[in-house]
Amino acid sequence: MTPVISATGLWTPPHTVTNEELVESFNAWADRWNAEHEADIAAGKVEAKTHSSTEFIEKASGIKSRYVVDKSGVVDPALMRPVIPERTNEDISILAEIAIKAANQALERAGRDPKDVDAVICAASNMQRAYPAMAIEVQEALGIDGFSFDMNVACSSATFGIQTAADFVRAGHAKSVLMVNPEITSGHLNWTDRDSHFIFGDVATAVLVEDISIAPKDHWKILGTHLKTKFSNNIRNNFGFLNRADPSGEGQPDKLFVQEGRKVFKEVVPMVSAMIQSELGRLDIRAEDLRRLWLHQANANMNRLISSKVLGHEASDDESPTVLDEYANTSSAGSIIAFHKHSDDFKPGEKGLICSFGAGYSAGTVFVEKAA
Ligand code: COA
Repeated sequence: MTPVISATGLWTPPHTVTNEELVESFNAWADRWNAEHEADIAAGKVEAKTHSSTEFIEKASGIKSRYVVDKSGVVDPALMRPVIPERTNEDISILAEIAIKAANQALERAGRDPKDVDAVICAASNMQRAYPAMAIEVQEALGIDGFSFDMNVACSSATFGIQTAADFVRAGHAKSVLMVNPEITSGHLNWTDRDSHFIFGDVATAVLVEDISIAPKDHWKILGTHLKTKFSNNIRNNFGFLNRADPSGEGQPDKLFVQEGRKVFKEVVPMVSAMIQSELGRLDIRAEDLRRLWLHQANANMNRLISSKVLGHEASDDESPTVLDEYANTSSAGSIIAFHKHSDDFKPGEKGLICSFGAGYSAGTVFVEKAA
């Protein structure tokens, strides 16, 4: 059995929040907070909140805008969080709903009837509940007969999901595996944290991994995958059943996304560059044979450094496309959005790399080649 990528899918939320809108609401929130805490600030008990700036955000991250499933709440200085009403158990969950939108596009592109899919993996950073698995909900809604489960490897979830799907195909446990990455990152972002309020955006992606015997002619060979994890406290989210959060996030910032951004930058760039280089060696691929790198979309400067180390020169937009400006960091979905949007021009035999990295630390590489 030989696993290949048959198709990908992308669903983009309808609402955008530009840096200007984001900074305006953040600064209004900071002003309110400072007014409410005027006495404590004057007494030196707490520090006043400082304004955010669009110039800083764009320069530090390359992000200009982001998509969100709810705009009203995240730009409301009185709320600073998305308003996503809880649904009844009879209604499909929002995570499954957006995953299906991306999945349908992948299935359609591959010409695959969902009845011929054997398994669903929902690989994402933040599941909205413990069980039943969102993947099983997707399976049920699409009428798939098989097995499904959720997995979470933070921003690396998609590459870990692709390798898992490929292993199922190799082992003969499935011929067609649908791997989805619904990311409502707006729910775990602390919109009142100046250091990180600009980082994330919402989206959903899907990748159909299948045995070559049933894949469409226009597929992607998987030349090799590699996964790596190494413990780090520098990106954390402590939310859980044993330590729940106050929905406002106020006073409990560790129950939302927190990071030591500088340390992440310094430690993850060498880890990922070395991993890509060692995989190139193992797979006997020369860096100059890579037509494109579809890197995780966390930070434009990080991607510039990683691609320079791998390619030996500053990468052009064509060699290492970015979707960060439009989508921001969409966690596990970032490298898949880049692949989905920037791969139609590939000719048979051309090679590229899908690579993700993030909390854990975790990192994954998937080297692909466009089939004839
Ligand atoms: N607006 C204006 N100024 C800001 C600001 C904001 N929103 N946030 C921080 N600053 C200020 C800081 O206060 C600091 O000021 P100081 O020098 O006077 O102390 C200065 O800008 C630099 O802050 P720093 O946090 O060191 O910025 P940075 O250049 O490291 O960029 C990140 C921050 C998060 C963009 C960057 O570290 C990064 O991308 N790291 C990788 C993390 C990542 O990708 N994580 C996702 C997990 S996959």
